[in-house]
Amino acid sequence: MTETTKFWGIVPAAGVGKRMQSNRPKQYLELAGKTVIEQALSRLLQADVFEAIAVAISREDPYWPQLPIAKHEKILTAAGGKERADSVLSALRSINGKASDNDWVLVHDAARPCITASDIHHLIACLIHDEVGGILALSSHDTLKNVQDGRIDGTLDRNHIWRALTPQMFRYGMLKSALEEAEGNPAITDEASALELKGLKPKIVEGRPDNIKITRPEDLPLAQFYMEQQ
Ligand code: C5P
Repeated sequence: MTETTKFWGIVPAAGVGKRMQSNRPKQYLELAGKTVIEQALSRLLQADVFEAIAVAISREDPYWPQLPIAKHEKILTAAGGKERADSVLSALRSINGKASDNDWVLVHDAARPCITASDIHHLIACLIHDEVGGILALSSHDTLKNVQDGRIDGTLDRNHIWRALTPQMFRYGMLKSALEEAEGNPAITDEASALELKGLKPKIVEGRPDNIKITRPEDLPLAQFYMEQQ
């Protein structure tokens, strides 16, 4: 790591979380005495590596301005977009002029509150000299099936299948231009896929299985359990 290497956090938090069946977006549900997004951001801040963390928030979001963490000196607010990739690009553009092309950005879902500082440090240590960057991921323990119309259409070779988690760590300039080139492409569901479209091969770094994404109602008590165990 050179003395000038800088790290920026990017947190897409402009989703509505339809699968939660709740009256507010999932990042504002309560988890261990705070909201999900406060838990996620506190953990990023605890890692103590970021110049600042840009958080993409929907324009119609009434909850964010009420959270004390929104006024934290290292937290910046950016406008959210239609899809996750649009929100990430907007947050990247919000630090234009502050971040250099060579700086690293770590993109982390607001809906993953159980991220640990040790996983963040591990990701950085594994990628700091990498040409492309990479992501935290989990290998699959289950046998995986390709399914068409409710019937199995083949078994995937699980030795080659990994589940993409966040943070995903790339160079600021490279990620921004990859997302700009891929704008509007529905296949871009994470940052790595934008780099893959350019023919690049992001590295896989095995992460902790407790870094879950809050998606369904039952994920909240599970996240609380993991936090207590950590
Ligand atoms: O919906 P999903 O769980 O895939 O969302 C992952 C993350 O992306 C969440 O933190 C969500 O708030 C964020 N997101 C966003 N802008 C959107 C859609 C999702 O920032 N338009």
